[in-house]
Amino acid sequence: MPIKDVSGLSIQQLVSLDGKVAVVTGAARGIGYAIARRLAEAGAIVLIGDLDVPGAAAAAASITKDFGHPALGVSLNVAEEDSIVALAEKAVLEFGRLDIWVNNAGIFPGTPTLDQSVDIWDKVQDINLRGSFLGAREAARRMIAQSPKGGVIINVASVSGFRGRPGLAAYVSSKHAVVGLTKSLGVEWGPHDIRVLGLAPTGVSTPGVHERKAQATGVELARIEELEKKVGAALPLGRLGNPDDIARVALFCASDLSMLMTGSTLIVDAGALAN
Ligand SMILES: NC(=O)c1ccc[n+]([C@@H]2O[C@H](COP(=O)([O-])OP(=O)(O)OC[C@H]3O[C@@H](n4cnc5c(N)ncnc54)[C@H](O)[C@@H]3O)[C@@H](O)[C@H]2O)c1
Repeated sequence: MPIKDVSGLSIQQLVSLDGKVAVVTGAARGIGYAIARRLAEAGAIVLIGDLDVPGAAAAAASITKDFGHPALGVSLNVAEEDSIVALAEKAVLEFGRLDIWVNNAGIFPGTPTLDQSVDIWDKVQDINLRGSFLGAREAARRMIAQSPKGGVIINVASVSGFRGRPGLAAYVSSKHAVVGLTKSLGVEWGPHDIRVLGLAPTGVSTPGVHERKAQATGVELARIEELEKKVGAALPLGRLGNPDDIARVALFCASDLSMLMTGSTLIVDAGALAN
């Protein structure tokens, strides 16, 4: 059966995620948290999986308070298969189905490749790539088994999935692989009504980026924000991203607005790659 034709729906019906259940990994803060908020605002029940358990609980509480329907913070380590299986199980047990899974958790340690340790290389691949494969697999197993079947899987890649960057070979390799994973799963699971889409943000101002830049340069936060403004000013659209810039595109991917899209990665980069 071909994917549903939604041409007759109103814009409100197309954007609505009422009755849908979504998981967002790494959503205690940063881009994941912004995505969880937009999905909840559109009507989805959201499970927030994160290593930071108090952070996930606080994120869920604030979403429930702001949007008036359940959100749940859940302990998650995407590098561990059992942990991902448990989260997918929980979504179905607590809320009856699983419609949207966002593989967002990721790390981006930088080091000159001549000094790159195997341990850190493996950790980056385990979290960014293997974690995305495991999340997608566990989500798809449940999306195929449910009635009505199907769903949307979103992989947060990066502009580093499309170009090289000095000192970031592990990260760049993992994100190129996430773009490939997205293509491959989109092709494989289309017949099951599962759409798989990627997002490729440019630099986005998040706690993780600020921590990494502070560690790398020893510079304090106010100065980092100033530096980010300078970098952003060189882009065609004149600024770097905010988490919500990415979350709005994630909502487009998760909703019926993007019904005929699968396997592609949407570049959200203020024009950086076109430049
Ligand atoms: N911020 C950027 O500039 C930028 C640009 C392009 C792509 N991205 C991608 O966006 C995603 C989110 O980045 P961010 O900047 O919001 O990061 P962040 O560090 O601010 O937040 C990441 C969250 O993921 C959680 N996390 C880390 N490892 C985990 C694990 N093993 N299991 C579960 N949760 C884990 C952290 O606890 C944290 O809450 C990443 O995949 C990153 O590669 C970020």
